[in-house]
Amino acid sequence: DKRHFRHFMLKEIHEQPETAELWVARHLPPDLSSDDPVALPFDHSFYADLERIQILACGTSRHAALVGAYLLEQFAGIPTSVFYASEFRYAPPPLAPHTLTIGVTQSGETADTLAALAMDAQRRQAHGEPAFAPRQLGVTNRPESSLTRQVPYILDIGAGIEVGVAATKTFLGQLLAFYGLALAFAARRSHRSVTEIANLKDELRALPHQLHSLVELHDQRCEVLANRFADTQDVIFLGRGINYPIALEGALKLKEISYIHAEGYPAGEMKHGPIALLDARVPVVSIAMPGVVFEKVLSNAQEAKARDAKLIGVAPECPDTALFDALLPVPEVSEWISPLLTLVPIQLLSYHIAAHRGLDVDQPRNLAKSVTVE
Ligand code: F6R
Repeated sequence: DKRHFRHFMLKEIHEQPETAELWVARHLPPDLSSDDPVALPFDHSFYADLERIQILACGTSRHAALVGAYLLEQFAGIPTSVFYASEFRYAPPPLAPHTLTIGVTQSGETADTLAALAMDAQRRQAHGEPAFAPRQLGVTNRPESSLTRQVPYILDIGAGIEVGVAATKTFLGQLLAFYGLALAFAARRSHRSVTEIANLKDELRALPHQLHSLVELHDQRCEVLANRFADTQDVIFLGRGINYPIALEGALKLKEISYIHAEGYPAGEMKHGPIALLDARVPVVSIAMPGVVFEKVLSNAQEAKARDAKLIGVAPECPDTALFDALLPVPEVSEWISPLLTLVPIQLLSYHIAAHRGLDVDQPRNLAKSVTVE
């Protein structure tokens, strides 16, 4: 049931405040004991002797994994690598002991992700030492899926059924799963102070409310903006640091539902080739959130503007962001939390461009909700 929404995708974008609210209720309950940073369903053996993490996923799930890797490395201090599941299964890196493998799959049925996990488990078992025991976690929205039969640990993102082929609320749910893991690991490894952990938790608790206002605001703003950009042929999405994967996700969303060619780049890479594409016909969406790379992203946007590109900013409203031709404003929050907010305008911009073009947003051509073949 789409309720009053024109498409499931739009309904599911609007359900994100609720996805966040359920996550907070489940993982940051008010009665959480003071030495537990976050409620997760894992025993001691899950955390013990962990030295590194590798994450296997496809598509949008891989973009969530990239934000996850940023958090696990920068917030929790654990070396983490992300692989396309389809690449990993034929060229895995050399085995290393004390490694946790995480498979991220919304459907729990993606053939490449399941095969990559199975191959990783087999290699570890063949090695025979306890340090190589298959320690695998599945992050999924479908705890009843094939994935659950395959891995010992499961984190259910609990986002509810997603009907639209383009992942939206399940992307948010996957991101939140990684915030939970990063909090748990950072606290156990004493990589972050009690205050830093408490601050991140406070911001996560405020998220549902913030998402609610953002979705309402950007549903209107993006509809207006979409009219201006619906006939465009190419769009570039730029981000850096923790928001680089949101640029990739923006480009993927736009491609899959509007059939407009789009690329996501880490903003600093533009000058190494892609900047040659820019002219007045190519809009550039720049995700510029305060933090370590804020000034850098803004100067990369300035370089694009100098090539006559039309600049759309996903950024706070402030004098620094006055260079954007159009602004999709996002409140100033800590850099850690920012991808959870910047994802809203990039989803709604893609949605409204596709809807404006009269396309079948929920069932894009050539795509299926779960890819059960290699
Ligand atoms: C994009 C999208 C796909 C999936 C990918 C992996 O909107 O939905 O890119 O993310 O096919 O699917 P799961 O997460 O089910 O493994």
